[in-house]
Amino acid sequence: MDAINITAYDEVGYPSYVYPQTHPDRLATIATLLGMNPAPVEACRVLEMGCGAGGNIIPMAFDLSESSFVGIDLAASPIDQGRELIAALGLKNISLQQLDVMAFPSELGQFDYIIAHGLFSWVPEVVRDRILAICRAHLAPQGVAYISYNTYPGCRLREIARDIMRFHSKDKQQAAEKVGQSLAVIKWIAEAQTEKNSYANFLGEMSARLLKRDEGSIYHDELSDVNVPLYFHEFAKQAHEHGLQFLSEADYFERSADSSFTEEAARQLDQIGDEDTLAREQYLDFLKGRSFRQTLLCHREAEVVRRINPDQVKDPTRFCYTGRQIGISRDVSRKERSCCHHQSAINQSSLPPSGPDLSKGNQVSRVSHASSLVSGDE
Ligand SMILES: C[S@@+](CC[C@H](N)C(=O)[O-])C[C@H]1O[C@@H](n2cnc3c(N)ncnc32)[C@H](O)[C@@H]1O
Repeated sequence: MDAINITAYDEVGYPSYVYPQTHPDRLATIATLLGMNPAPVEACRVLEMGCGAGGNIIPMAFDLSESSFVGIDLAASPIDQGRELIAALGLKNISLQQLDVMAFPSELGQFDYIIAHGLFSWVPEVVRDRILAICRAHLAPQGVAYISYNTYPGCRLREIARDIMRFHSKDKQQAAEKVGQSLAVIKWIAEAQTEKNSYANFLGEMSARLLKRDEGSIYHDELSDVNVPLYFHEFAKQAHEHGLQFLSEADYFERSADSSFTEEAARQLDQIGDEDTLAREQYLDFLKGRSFRQTLLCHREAEVVRRINPDQVKDPTRFCYTGRQIGISRDVSRKERSCCHHQSAINQSSLPPSGPDLSKGNQVSRVSHASSLVSGDE
């Protein structure tokens, strides 16, 4: 590998998981409920930017054999690992390419679904701009883009811990030492507190949460040079400037006021929403103290119906994807098992104990997705 191309993600791996909330089935379900007419997931084109080793996109390609998938990532090592897995599975409907989003070639064409998970907040402004520009230029007219990002106000708290961790580990050279020292300093400060106040509570919770996290994710998420949270209204404005509009959150239930608020606040929130969907989303973040968003975007020209009509869920012609049924008596189960084993190996113990769950998000039918979205019990 050319030395000039080695990135931090080549040197220290990032856990490559499945994210069901990015699956085309989820995106199509929400878009359909909101009045759009997205491409059928059984025959669609999907792009994932910053796909890492393909832990998310490869299972999708495995499941949706008639759809085609392209994953790109700046780092060569994870792309090589993903390609090995694709070869082992014999998949022909997916390609992974080592590619900077800044050099995205227009020949890659149009996609029905575009995914960028864990990328937007971790790249400089010029790259963030390019990600939105790619969504505008390469998303089909009824397509859906998924972009996750860190957000305020919740990230103000996380920044306290990040600043402490970065200060304490700044002179350490090795990733493992940096992570070890940054965890140690948070634990030390948390345990030093003798008074029960909000700072002590926060540090205690943060320390417990960090100790459960994977080393690679702490190194890249908490200690990275670039980690830019945005307020939702800032993200929505940037999307608008790129000809895109807010469609929904990928976890639809995130859009409701939950039982931790008074009924009065929930009613007022809905009143705000009747006038201005974007303002409602922003106030919801203030109410929840949200620190992470998984926002779905579509073209500004797409017509979006903001109030879901429950009758739509009953229309079988609109929600028909039932997913691939994986049974132990079928050849596919053997394939799937080898896929899990291979994943465990490439991720160097970064996977959850059970390995990636290939069925999660893939076997769920759009009917059940839609029902749970409407009833709010997903
Ligand atoms: C935090 S990781 C997230 C990986 C994966 N999407 C996930 O959530 O597990 C960010 C990924 O974005 C990739 N990346 C960063 N800058 C990029 C760029 N300019 N073009 C393409 N990929 C990039 C990194 O190499 C890394 O694999």
